[in-house]
Amino acid sequence: MATQRRGFSSNIGAILAAAGGAVGLGNVWRFPYMLGKNGGGAFLLVYIFFVFLIGIPIMMTEFVMGRSTQSNVVGAYRKMGKKKAWIMLGVLTVIAAFLIYAYYSVVAGWTLNYIAFSISGKLHGLDPSGVGQAFSDFTRGSFWPVVNQLVFLALTGFVISFGVEKGIERVSKVLMPLLFALLVIMCVRSLTLPGAVSGLEFLFRPDFSKITGETLLSALGQSFFSMSLGLGGMITYGSYIRKQDSLLKTSAWISVCDLMVAILSGIVIFPAVFSFGLNPAAGPELVYVVLPNVFNSMSGGVVFAAVFFVLLGIAALTSTISLLEIIVAVTVEEFNWKRRTSSVVITIAVFIVGVFCTLSFGPLRNFHIFGRTIFEFFDMVTASYILPIGALAMCLLVGWGCPKDLIASELSQGSRLKSGFIEAYFFIVRYVAPIGLAIILISGLVS
Ligand code: TRP
Repeated sequence: MATQRRGFSSNIGAILAAAGGAVGLGNVWRFPYMLGKNGGGAFLLVYIFFVFLIGIPIMMTEFVMGRSTQSNVVGAYRKMGKKKAWIMLGVLTVIAAFLIYAYYSVVAGWTLNYIAFSISGKLHGLDPSGVGQAFSDFTRGSFWPVVNQLVFLALTGFVISFGVEKGIERVSKVLMPLLFALLVIMCVRSLTLPGAVSGLEFLFRPDFSKITGETLLSALGQSFFSMSLGLGGMITYGSYIRKQDSLLKTSAWISVCDLMVAILSGIVIFPAVFSFGLNPAAGPELVYVVLPNVFNSMSGGVVFAAVFFVLLGIAALTSTISLLEIIVAVTVEEFNWKRRTSSVVITIAVFIVGVFCTLSFGPLRNFHIFGRTIFEFFDMVTASYILPIGALAMCLLVGWGCPKDLIASELSQGSRLKSGFIEAYFFIVRYVAPIGLAIILISGLVS
């Protein structure tokens, strides 16, 4: 093996690092936009259900795969599955990581632009339609969005090539709680806007008639996306977790943090959406056309805006780092590439593909694949299909393809799990999750 495995020094370190990878644009940007498009409160309810019933067991499954094999994604599939078909699944997940990274970097780049907008006061004092106009003027251009995407990719590649996870870890330990605190302050502002109650009703009052096959698929995809599941992100991090740490406790903490940030973001966004008379189903631009209005209505809003977008940019960076790390770890450990070469080559490749995602808001916005722009198509295919398929594969491999006692002993390393708990885990991973995933995937395809 080409690299020596480094590990997290403590349990809290592992939780924070993995939570840093999990908490990102998925929580603040994607969650509200998915919820807005897919029926509000009903989506939230289904989402929470998936987090606890399927998300946490699958996170534990990824940790088990990573910690027991001490490997990257492909290595973990190779060591546990042995057969070629499993290795191909490992490869498929790496390709999916590549595709997610390609479109994620578009939105990550937007944060840079919004930092600049905040500092220069460009959005300050605009009315809601002016804020919306500024967003579409900016994203329809083909210069700045591409430049910002490139800068973001380069920044991520730079961090990964030097392997300064330590630095990033230390930084995110301070800044993530700060993001959380800022979100709480913004919640207070949002909740005291006139008409805020309709937003809360939209978010928390489920209308069950809105649940369709597509709602289920979107909520499932969102839970995997937000918790970084299905792609081996948590396999990679799991391989760094100490043997004496409890995988259940670690997964539970990460998931609860991730869920809280998502719900807080919803409490910031939806009261404001209704108060300013905006459209909750606006899609990927939702957060970017809502938040500036919230800042405009706050005293000291200019400062809050700048700080917020810096923190959001950092949250996005810790996530892009984890996405790139999935791919780089594979090339370094499986193919003996140099870390630095790998970071540069993959960054360039992602940029070549990612530019099309950026341009699909501008010059290519009328180019559709199955009725979706390139950006939306990448987003849907990866989150709604490949992540659940990846998770299904992991369930089958760990639930059926490996000796049960091996998995059980890895699972109980570092924790005193009751045998009933282990049985419940196997019941979910063998039956509930695979059957549920298969039904949802099929019903989503049909509708
Ligand atoms: N979870 C991150 C977010 O919410 C995105 C992300 C990082 C991710 N690594 C991942 C998603 C691995 C899927 C798989 O922003």
